Amino acid sequence: MYLYPKWIRLWHLFNALLFIVLIITGISMQYTGRHNPSYMVGFAKAVKWHNFAALLLTGNYIFFILGNSFTKNKRYYKIKKENFWSDLFKQLKYYSFGMFKEEAHPFPVTMERKFNPLQKLTYVMAMYIGIPLLIISGIGLLFPEITINRVFGVSGLVLTDILHITMGFLLSIFMIVHIYTCTLGDKPLSLFRGMITGFHVSEHD
Ligand code: HEM
Repeated sequence: MYLYPKWIRLWHLFNALLFIVLIITGISMQYTGRHNPSYMVGFAKAVKWHNFAALLLTGNYIFFILGNSFTKNKRYYKIKKENFWSDLFKQLKYYSFGMFKEEAHPFPVTMERKFNPLQKLTYVMAMYIGIPLLIISGIGLLFPEITINRVFGVSGLVLTDILHITMGFLLSIFMIVHIYTCTLGDKPLSLFRGMITGFHVSEHD
């Protein structure tokens, strides 16, 4: 099944690489201090590379949104209300117990269903809530003059910063869990192979 067209593979490759650069440079900035003046890559270099990678990530994100709006790929991101909780529960039960008893996947991949319910929900949250908030708060920090001065007596810049590091942290956790769940296909490397070749192969066929 050809599920990952070239544009998705290209977007995803840049997205993953830029995320790694942003995490390394973000951690470098976070932990640079008086006692650790050049933590990891050093503060000045970290700021420069973080801003550059963020600019590229924003362009790449716009590319994803346009691609997902104008191609059939958008259908995989539509969350339907019916059976939402029961399907989610079925998938969670599979990840918690079923897969250890070698039960069959409750939502096998088809041309109509690329993602299982949990994948779909986390991808929608990461792509349509997490990354936009990360980008908007990042722009607010890059251009403090456009950031609201005070909200209920608290510095707008501090709130923007808290939002930015929270989203950065949550998306970093998403990435780690995402890489782990990508090993849970028919074989540990099946899903990674799909993202490289474009074809999802079910090893049971
Ligand atoms: C080294 C880091 C990463 C690796 C190895 C990786 C691996 C994969 C693999 C194997 C797939 C295909 C399986 C599937 O469809 O679920 C996939 C899909 C996907 N990944 Fe990642 N990923 C990484 C980072 C990220 C990051 C940072 C994000 C977003 C914040 C992300 C978002 C997505 C999305 C949205 C899809 C589905 C794309 C589509 O087919 O529409 N990934 N990833």
